[in-house]
Amino acid sequence: MFGRIAPRYDTANRMLSAGIDRWWRRRLVRAVGRHHPRTVLDLATGSGDVAFAIARGVRPAPEITGMDFCQPMLDQAEAKGRSGRFPGAGNVRFTLGDGLEIPLPNASRDAITIAFGLRNLADRQRGLREMHRVLKPGGRLHVLEFSQPQAWFRPLYYFYLRRVLPGLARWLTGDREAYLYLGDSIGAFPTREEITNEIRAAGFGEITAIPMTFGIVALHSAAKSPAVS
Ligand SMILES: C[S@@+](CC[C@H](N)C(=O)[O-])C[C@H]1O[C@@H](n2cnc3c(N)ncnc32)[C@H](O)[C@@H]1O
Repeated sequence: MFGRIAPRYDTANRMLSAGIDRWWRRRLVRAVGRHHPRTVLDLATGSGDVAFAIARGVRPAPEITGMDFCQPMLDQAEAKGRSGRFPGAGNVRFTLGDGLEIPLPNASRDAITIAFGLRNLADRQRGLREMHRVLKPGGRLHVLEFSQPQAWFRPLYYFYLRRVLPGLARWLTGDREAYLYLGDSIGAFPTREEITNEIRAAGFGEITAIPMTFGIVALHSAAKSPAVS
């Protein structure tokens, strides 16, 4: 499904979110930058927007690995890297890999980001345990993901997701099915409290969840204990 929408993925993101997705990613980048990581894994990197935003926005510039299991998405990311439009792209390397079996050694990254990817993992708990394994002791996890909006906003939001978005998406990407899936997966996604519990169950501590834009999206951050290897 992601392979089908890859060529129009960025355009669809900008238009369907009215550009707010860029602001959400900037909040994620600021959270990453506060801990000055030297190595970052951007899991489920898709077309690489988070990886490029980290390369531009985090100082000193870390070494960034953008990983995804969908080669057509990585092709888009690599083409963007070569385009010269993304400052710092030289610090980003893209690689094929499954978030449920991350092809990286234990304790090998200072930070892991996953934006709009956790919802799509076939087994969230397994993915979160893998992220915990790959982080260094004291390393940080940052999850940007859709969430459940405030009650007053839900009728309007779900009307947009289920009635407006699939038609708009068909016009933009030619793929109504993928965006019906988007609405369904957002509607079925757990609350911030449930995601916090899942992150804790994978071994993390110091967990925070910051709602954004009436709770449509949340930024979850967590730490691997410095005492665990
Ligand atoms: C909605 S896109 C998000 C892309 C990007 N992070 C962003 O912010 O635009 C979800 C991505 O998750 C990837 N994905 C889903 N399951 C995965 C898995 N098990 N391992 C690696 N990538 C996965 C998909 O291929 C897709 O590129």
